[in-house]
Amino acid sequence: MKVAICPGSFDPLTNGHVDIINRAAQVFDKVIVAVLHNPNKKPLFTMEERAHMIKEALKDLPNVEVEYFSGLLVDYARSKGACAIVRGLRAVSDFEIELMQASVNRKLAPEVETVYMMTSNEYSFLSSSVVKEVASFGGDVRCMVPTVVAEKLAEKFGK
Ligand code: PNS
Repeated sequence: MKVAICPGSFDPLTNGHVDIINRAAQVFDKVIVAVLHNPNKKPLFTMEERAHMIKEALKDLPNVEVEYFSGLLVDYARSKGACAIVRGLRAVSDFEIELMQASVNRKLAPEVETVYMMTSNEYSFLSSSVVKEVASFGGDVRCMVPTVVAEKLAEKFGK
């Protein structure tokens, strides 16, 4: 049974994330979407809120589970018996940080492979930060995020 972890802050989940998770679910037997605490970012949504939105948005994918976790990603991956970490790459700008993270993770856990999937072209501009900025000014984000996320953003920003 090949288990993969799709880790991220998911603050909030975007259609770009959904695209990568969907594709990972075709390649691996089981995909665990792991909402990880990133101490360098101040989140808009709590871990519970983020996990709830992801569960709702991905409820039709039978081999996808959603969890949240703090600590080292490789420790979490090992505890789940995962053979791979799956991340999306949008542009060259993502590469430097991803190379650093993959190299550190490989040093710590050589048996856990990091696999990159190129983001589909229509989502190459999309990020959680862009979505939050547009939503905070009352812009329409329904083409960028699942419905449940658009609703929660509207609640958060009082629209
Ligand atoms: O969605 P993000 O914020 O780009 O996700 C980054 C994330 C959560 C995958 C990364 O920060 C992470 O792996 N955090 C866990 C801490 C860890 O394992 N650090 C060592 C790798 S540098």
